[in-house]
Amino acid sequence: MTGRPGYPPEPMRWEGQADGRLLIIEQTLLPAEEREIELSSVQDVADAIYRLAVRGAPAIGITAAYGLVLAARAIAGNQTPDETVSALERDAAFLARTRPTAVNLTWALRRMARLFEPPAGPVEMQQRLLDEALSIHEEDRQACLAMARWAAPFLREGGSYLTHCNAGSLATGGIGTALGVFHLAAREGKAITVYVDETRPLLQGARLTSWELQRSGIEVKLICDSAAATFLTRGPVQAVFVGADRIAGNGDAANKLGTLSVALAARHAGIPFYVVAPSSTFDLTLADGGEIPIEERPPEEVTDGFGRRTAPEGIGICNPAFDVTPADLITALITERGVIEAPTTERIRTVLA
Ligand code: MRU
Repeated sequence: MTGRPGYPPEPMRWEGQADGRLLIIEQTLLPAEEREIELSSVQDVADAIYRLAVRGAPAIGITAAYGLVLAARAIAGNQTPDETVSALERDAAFLARTRPTAVNLTWALRRMARLFEPPAGPVEMQQRLLDEALSIHEEDRQACLAMARWAAPFLREGGSYLTHCNAGSLATGGIGTALGVFHLAAREGKAITVYVDETRPLLQGARLTSWELQRSGIEVKLICDSAAATFLTRGPVQAVFVGADRIAGNGDAANKLGTLSVALAARHAGIPFYVVAPSSTFDLTLADGGEIPIEERPPEEVTDGFGRRTAPEGIGICNPAFDVTPADLITALITERGVIEAPTTERIRTVLA
């Protein structure tokens, strides 16, 4: 895979028609190795999502949607329409359990489930589901571009910005949410520098964001998570752009663990903190961020993160994968439908209605 400024790689693609193939970039190997793998069953898709071979809120929704095409294909031809629907519902529920925080996953699966209705022969069902998965993918591609265009006025030539985790093309169906802003700047020839938090414990910033931005011709400065506050308070960072996994009705935003610390430091430094996310990341059924389910990941991610044990045996480990930034620390939510400054429940409903 070769890079072209502003044109990052896509983490998943469907090749061919309904009898075609689902391919993803195996993200756990990056940046050392760029390899595509095929997912050929619902179990493969669930495993890939759980072990973060494909990750990022919109990307897991899109991949799960394609996973249901594989599910429909696996259903034996002698099943009744009702049995087919029940089998698909079971597979959708199984995929939904893989990662609880990003609402894009359940959003995409619910959208696919609207098509489960009988009567539909197996071939018709597969085609229907593939068409819908392709639409979800294409809509996300367009949403990424729209968000980047809305955000463009917040970036200036020669500016320095900070991001956390990977909210890039590797996490979406397009150029990314937060990183899409930087990719579009690269396309337009704007020179910017991006400070990238390494993002412990799984190093999405170091492994994925640095790789993706460098490949796009953007100047990267990789920093330890604990250095973010320094670069925010002492310069030269001028604004923070991050993605989100779920945004509650009042604008509280869940994103990768460590985002909250960055938001607090940005507020202390008087620096704008932007959350860039498509409408599919909003969960208006939740009044506030306290209701967002936070995924707890295996303790080994903390104790054995670098391929060897880095902590004593027998200690307690906490490994929540996400935290919630309260809306009042967010300068603006940037969606494909527009910018929501100083987000409130009312303002969010007005833009997303
Ligand atoms: O655990 P991950 O790697 O899936 O976490 C991803 C993030 O936190 C991203 O910032 C978020 O999903 C937004 S992706 C556009």
